[in-house]
Amino acid sequence: MTSPRVIGAEHVEDARRRGRVALEVMPGDIVTALARESASRIGVRLVDGPLEKPVPPIVDGNTAMRRVLHKRSPGWVSPSKSRPKRVCRFAKIALVGGGGVGSNIAHLAAAGDMADEIAIVDVAPGIAAATAMDLNHASGITRTRARVAGGQNLELVAGADVVVVSAGRARVPGMSRADLIGVNRRVIHAAGEAIRTNAPEAIVIVVTNPLDEMTVEMLRATGFPRERVLGMAGTLDSSRYRNALAEAAGVPPSDVEAIALGSHGDEMAPVASLARIRGQPAERFLAKEALRRCGEEAVGGGARVVELKKTGSAVIAPAHSTIELLDHIRGARQGPVPVSIMLEGEYGISGVVLGVPAHLGRSGLVEVVNLRLSGDERAALGAAAEAIGKRLEM
Ligand code: 2OP
Repeated sequence: MTSPRVIGAEHVEDARRRGRVALEVMPGDIVTALARESASRIGVRLVDGPLEKPVPPIVDGNTAMRRVLHKRSPGWVSPSKSRPKRVCRFAKIALVGGGGVGSNIAHLAAAGDMADEIAIVDVAPGIAAATAMDLNHASGITRTRARVAGGQNLELVAGADVVVVSAGRARVPGMSRADLIGVNRRVIHAAGEAIRTNAPEAIVIVVTNPLDEMTVEMLRATGFPRERVLGMAGTLDSSRYRNALAEAAGVPPSDVEAIALGSHGDEMAPVASLARIRGQPAERFLAKEALRRCGEEAVGGGARVVELKKTGSAVIAPAHSTIELLDHIRGARQGPVPVSIMLEGEYGISGVVLGVPAHLGRSGLVEVVNLRLSGDERAALGAAAEAIGKRLEM
């Protein structure tokens, strides 16, 4: 329970400064005359709260996504009508790349008891083996059944159900993701060939940047069908977008539903028209400019982490975002999730990997969800496809 507040002119001014167009007044709050005068003068609405019927205390990324998509897709089936899927435990998850992203995925997967076996491969001597040992040492506390092994040899991917590839160079300040195309293409081809030989039935999740282009390279290197080569980006971009909206509106992230589609780069497409705060269109809470800045946060969030770190990129949010995809694959989460896949005519686009909402299952991609997007939103997806196509030709 929060205690009643005295809402003064300074609160109204603060809301305006943050780009908010509404200020929630809860029962019992006292609003000063000056605050009312100030609100009407500067155009901030004082809205009687609570604004929405009580929201569930925890809304994970998947639920947020599901709510956004509800009724937007002709093929949509209400979650309440769908039969719960059986949750599977993987026999083996392999991680190619044992740096910050790989080790955080291993940590979350082991702590979540997601697999019998987790293998980490990294070219740097000792790194993967050390992380594996460290994680196994923690199992006396976590009691996970997952056993972790690590080494330098790519053959460690053998027999994996899912291989997550995060190996490759990360950005340094001033670099765009696309600047990594040349160097990381070689890494992806080496990993892809090892996966094709040693784990021919695996689903591959690409995390290495530039994400969309590297997912295309992985398709080429493995020769796998598109159903089994996925790129992790939309889960991360959508999470960053929801966080930005929550911060801007001054609400918890659990009150925000929003997705970002398109490329994992400058042509990302945060879908403002679908963004909801407490179940209402986001523009009821945020001015146009503030909404635009939230989109920018999603597009530029990764670069801002790089600027601060100087020698690497984000690791924790990307790891959680990968776990979200793994959870969809094993049936622990249901409904559509944003994922980068090779499009075959969906959204009028073919031959390019792009982030779109899709259903996943034990065999990878099950079905792309065709959202009814606005003209502008479709145009943004088209522009992303064109830019990626051009970069791949270069
Ligand atoms: C990011 O956006 C590493 O691409 C990743 O942080």
